[in-house]
Amino acid sequence: MSTKSLEEIFQAKVDAEIRIEPKDWMPDAYRKTLIRQISQHAHSEIVGMLPEGNWVTRAPSLRRKVGLLAKVQDEAGHGLYLYAAAETLGVERADLVAQLHNGKAKYSSIFNYPTQTWADIGAIGWLVDGAAIMNQVPLCRCSYGPYARAMVRVCKEESFHQRQGFEIMMTLCNGTPEQKHMAQDALNRWWWPSLMMFGPNDDESPNSARSMKWKIKRFSNDELRQRFVDITAPQADILGIKIPDPDLTWNEKTQHYDFGAIDWDEFYQVLKGNGPCNKQRLKTRNKAHNKGQWVREAAMAYAEKKQQRKASAA
Ligand code: 3HC
Repeated sequence: MSTKSLEEIFQAKVDAEIRIEPKDWMPDAYRKTLIRQISQHAHSEIVGMLPEGNWVTRAPSLRRKVGLLAKVQDEAGHGLYLYAAAETLGVERADLVAQLHNGKAKYSSIFNYPTQTWADIGAIGWLVDGAAIMNQVPLCRCSYGPYARAMVRVCKEESFHQRQGFEIMMTLCNGTPEQKHMAQDALNRWWWPSLMMFGPNDDESPNSARSMKWKIKRFSNDELRQRFVDITAPQADILGIKIPDPDLTWNEKTQHYDFGAIDWDEFYQVLKGNGPCNKQRLKTRNKAHNKGQWVREAAMAYAEKKQQRKASAA
């Protein structure tokens, strides 16, 4: 069958909401886009553990420490699901991880910002996981089966992450004036980088059109960003803290919030590796990976031994 006919059959399946599975024929470009997006998503989960891990030993109470530990462990699990989903497309996990460690692969810009106070942990749960949920729930309906299925469990755990973050912010905002100031300071620093998580404006996005045709993306970057602003702005009112955007206003006519311009220079600087923590994040990841070499070798040696025992017993 010609490639053209195969592509027509493939697109007809996508249009009919039939899931594409690993063994199905798929255009190389579809496979490549999925490897790109899923591996970067996995990298984001793993690097995302670092800013929060920074506060595990300094959490203000045992209850907060337990909640944060559970969240950081969840993120590790999300990364492993996503690497496993990427491997179904015929790539080696070790190669993907090497691309992260040598700076070739992207991960979400948001994780290149520092966590300066405990309130940052609240702001990350509330805003960053809130934005992640906005973007990940539609991915549960992604046309590629393994990615969509991985997202179902990830989204359930993200909801817990978002709730524990909002609760931290609520506690601080109802606390002493210094604690409320800490929460406002965290909102000031995390608001705009959270909006950048959704990617460039639609007219600047080289991948969106195709990803939407292939139903990898169900909504555009700007649609999801707008949804996030519409949901989060009233939450800031409930907390009694102010979103750092003088142009943020409710538009009765559109029934959405209008908001100010995003600093895309900052976004692209962070993507180029010039964010506040890019170098530190990669250095920490490389150090952890090298320190874990013996664990990988031991696990491989054990698996080989087990295989040999099985073969000689047969
Ligand atoms: N950070 C880093 N790179 C970004 C980015 C961001 N916030 N937003 C966009 N980019 C990159 C894209 O990867 C693309 O570069 P590439 O072609 O070299 O890969 C380029 O900027 C243009 O962006 P597009 O909008 O054209 O790219 P996509 O169609 O891939 O859309 C996306 C970007 C919306 C992030 C999409 O990739 C996506 O939905 N990814 C899956 C979800 C994800 O990765 N979320 C990241 C956060 S995970 C997380 O927060 C964990 C939680 O537990 C806290």
